[in-house]
Amino acid sequence: MSDWKNTIDRTPLNLPTRPRRNRRSDAIRRLVRETHLSVDDLIQPLFVVPGEGREEPIGAMPGCAHLSLDRLAAKVERLASLGVPAVALFPALPDDIKDPVGTESANPEGLMQRAIRACKDAAPGVMVVGDVALDPYSSDGHDGVVEDGEIINDPSVHILCEMAVSQAEAGVDIIAPSDMMDGRVGAIRDALDDAGHTDVLILSYCAKYASAFYGPFREALDSAPRAGDKKTYQMDPANAREAEREAMLDEEEGADILMVKPALPYLDVIYRLREVSNLPIAAYHVSGGYASLMAAGQRGWLDADKALAEALLGIKRAGADMILTYYAERFAERA
Ligand code: PBG
Repeated sequence: MSDWKNTIDRTPLNLPTRPRRNRRSDAIRRLVRETHLSVDDLIQPLFVVPGEGREEPIGAMPGCAHLSLDRLAAKVERLASLGVPAVALFPALPDDIKDPVGTESANPEGLMQRAIRACKDAAPGVMVVGDVALDPYSSDGHDGVVEDGEIINDPSVHILCEMAVSQAEAGVDIIAPSDMMDGRVGAIRDALDDAGHTDVLILSYCAKYASAFYGPFREALDSAPRAGDKKTYQMDPANAREAEREAMLDEEEGADILMVKPALPYLDVIYRLREVSNLPIAAYHVSGGYASLMAAGQRGWLDADKALAEALLGIKRAGADMILTYYAERFAERA
C-alpha cells in the first residue's frame, strides 16, 4: 500500500502533443479560455405585484421575490449599481382583474405600465424588457384568446399589438413577445412604428418550446393554463429544424434579437440559430433550470453557485449573446 510510488512505471510516453500543458496553471487557463461570461451578458427577470412595501419570497424560486413598485425601484437601482444592463418585467395580477381577452394588459395605469415607469425613473440607464403575451392577464391562463377550446391566432395578435404599444407609451425599451402566435413580430413592429415607437426593439421568443421547465414561473404568476396545454402554439421539444424556420420568419418580420427558450436543454437550438442568423441571440435560462439547481444546492447535493455559473457559461458557449436568468443579480454580486 505505502510503496506504490516505487512500483509504478514512469517511462515517458512518446506523445506527439499533450493537451494538459494548456491547463497546467490558472494563468495558462486564463490565456486559453475561449468563452467569457460577464454581467454584460445578463438580463434579470423580475416579478411585480400590486401594493406597497411588499417583497415576498417565491417558494419555488429561491432568491426571487414578488416586488411591489417601491421595492422594484430599489431593486433596479441595485442592479444598475452592479452593472446589470437590463431587467425583464412580469406582472403577477390578482384573479379578479383577469378576463378572457386580457383587457388589463393595455391599461395605461396598469401594474405593468406603472412598473415600466418606476424602473425608468429609478435607473434610466437600465433597459426594460416588457413581456408581451396574454397569460398574466388572461382568466384562461393562455398566451392568446381561447374560443371553444382553441387559441385563436389573429384576434390574439391584435390584442398583443395594443399591449406592446401601451408598454411603449409607458417607456419600455424592448418588447419581448413570448406568446408564439404566428405573425406577431411583424404586426407588433407595424403597430409600434405607426404609434411613433420606431426605436423600441423587438426581442422575439422565436423558438419557445412547450416545456416542463416553466413550472416554477407559472406558480409564481399563478398563470398555468386553466385547461389544456400550450402545445398548439409553443414548439414541440423534438424539433430543431422548425426553430430555424421560426427564426427566419421572425428575422423577416423585423425582430432585432432572436431568443431560444428554455436555454437548457436546448443548447443545440442556440447553436443552430447562431449558425443561420446574424441577429443577436438571446437565451432564457428559465425558472425550472434555475430552481432545480438551487434546490439541489439547498440540499447540499451540489454547489449551486458553481453549477449555475457553469450552466450559464454553457449557454454562452453554445452561441448566446445574452441570457435572461434569475441568477443575474447574484452572479453580479459575486463577479
Ligand atoms: C408565458 C411565459 C412563460 C415564461 C415566460 N413567459 C411560461 C409559459 O409559457 O407558460 C416562463 C419563464 C420561466 O419559466 O422562467 N408567456
